[in-house]
Amino acid sequence: MGFSEKQETLVKESWEVMKEDIPAYSLYLYTMILEIAPEVKGLFSFLKDTNELPKNNPKLKSHAVKVFKMVCEAAIQLREKGEVVISGSTLKYLGSVHLQKQIVDPQFEVVKEALIRTVEKAMGEKCSEEMKDAWRVAYDHLAAAIKAEMKQQA
Ligand code: HEM
Repeated sequence: MGFSEKQETLVKESWEVMKEDIPAYSLYLYTMILEIAPEVKGLFSFLKDTNELPKNNPKLKSHAVKVFKMVCEAAIQLREKGEVVISGSTLKYLGSVHLQKQIVDPQFEVVKEALIRTVEKAMGEKCSEEMKDAWRVAYDHLAAAIKAEMKQQA
């Protein structure tokens, strides 16, 4: 099934809200990641030696923003072309970073769930099943592209 204009709008609309407070939503994403799967802590350079989530950490923010933004871009591409196409060098980089960190499927699911909870947090009453589903679909396509590249490089 194709990705509709409505779905694209729902994702864009929530990213616009999240963009307004990157530090807070980045921190929230990681709070949720660690609540769902505390064991992933050791994977992240900026978390492994600390007991608290570092506030205003540029690496934490960078990863969170990449996830938010690339899912939003994936949504736009899905609606425009019916598929997610990541430019060669970016895709190679994404593949190699996550391959090196040995990220596995269940961890992609953890980040997806944490992302959905962040969208819920940002949108409050404006959040709907349809909105969350649009994020899930776009995330799954992006994750699939990263995983395929990881496989290619392995
Ligand atoms: C690093 C993007 C999913 C774990 C990175 C980097 C990017 C990136 C661009 C390079 C560093 C940076 O710029 O922040 C993404 C995107 C994802 C995704 C777009 C969307 C599907 C995941 C998942 C995990 C993960 C599911 C598993 C928990 C990591 C780790 C690093 C990393 C551990 C190294 C960060 C560090 O220690 O500094 N990711 N990532 N990523 N990613 Fe992801």
